[in-house]
Amino acid sequence: MSSSAKSTYDVNKIINLEGRRALIIGAGRGIGKKIAHYFAQAGAGLTLVSRTEAELELVKKEILNETGSVVDVFAADATDEYSISKIFFSLQGLDILVNVAGTSAQVPAEQYNKDLFSRIYGLNCHALFFACAQAYPLLCKSKTGGRIINISSHLGVVGLPLRTIYCSSKAAVIHFTKTLAVEWAKDHITVNSIAPGYTNTELSQLVLNKSDFRDEVLSKTPVGFIAETDDIAGAAVFLASSSSRYMTGQTLVIDGGWSCV
Ligand SMILES: NC(=O)c1ccc[n+]([C@@H]2O[C@H](COP(=O)([O-])OP(=O)(O)OC[C@H]3O[C@@H](n4cnc5c(N)ncnc54)[C@H](OP(=O)(O)O)[C@@H]3O)[C@@H](O)[C@H]2O)c1
Repeated sequence: MSSSAKSTYDVNKIINLEGRRALIIGAGRGIGKKIAHYFAQAGAGLTLVSRTEAELELVKKEILNETGSVVDVFAADATDEYSISKIFFSLQGLDILVNVAGTSAQVPAEQYNKDLFSRIYGLNCHALFFACAQAYPLLCKSKTGGRIINISSHLGVVGLPLRTIYCSSKAAVIHFTKTLAVEWAKDHITVNSIAPGYTNTELSQLVLNKSDFRDEVLSKTPVGFIAETDDIAGAAVFLASSSSRYMTGQTLVIDGGWSCV
């Protein structure tokens, strides 16, 4: 191409989600809330789910003020299959599903606790898989190609003491992602995941507020700081956009280098 030729590339398409309809499960605060803000700014139409209505209403109000867009919100528990299937049934169409809701606990592995296991796997794995299955028929009809983005964790890639259940559930998310990607590629659906490292949110504050643990996290993080939700949400925009159309089954590990050491 001569230097005077007009470029056929458009960098703006990396962040352009105009005309796309996205459902984010776990969008009332933290990483999911930031993804909702980024998606709205990129032009996507949004449906947001979490259990706390007041937080959803706040996100709705913030997005309306920022972009003028009205988002739909539903207060529901991601593990309640009846409520979630009703939300999917109400959608006019869907191009992007983001599964963010997740939970964690610290417990010595030798203290097997069936209820805890069920709670963590129930949300991190069963609910995520259920949402993917519910989304499938809608994503198959997406004119832009369906997108699923699952939020895993760097602890799905490497282990950390006391978190066997959480780590293994997040490793399962990575493998759900790979396998669904292979199975649904024929339907023009890409399935990718993001594995954040420790990120400043309400969930992580529970452990990061303990100075010993915070120091341990920082010592294991080569970049030397804890992520903000912005450090994660930009990757979600890329994975939702047409720029990532050739990427599927992958996990973007955004952990400041933790898993490389
Ligand atoms: N923050 C980190 O350091 C970090 C690191 C690696 C991975 N992650 C993963 O990233 C995801 C988000 O974490 P976060 O730190 O942003 O958490 P957060 O601040 O606690 O936010 C989680 C969001 O999901 C919703 N949620 C939780 N349980 C739900 C349920 N059963 N049904 C529907 N919505 C539910 C919460 O609202 P309600 O409670 O009102 O329902 C909230 O809106 C999780 O999957 C987590 O494992 C986080």
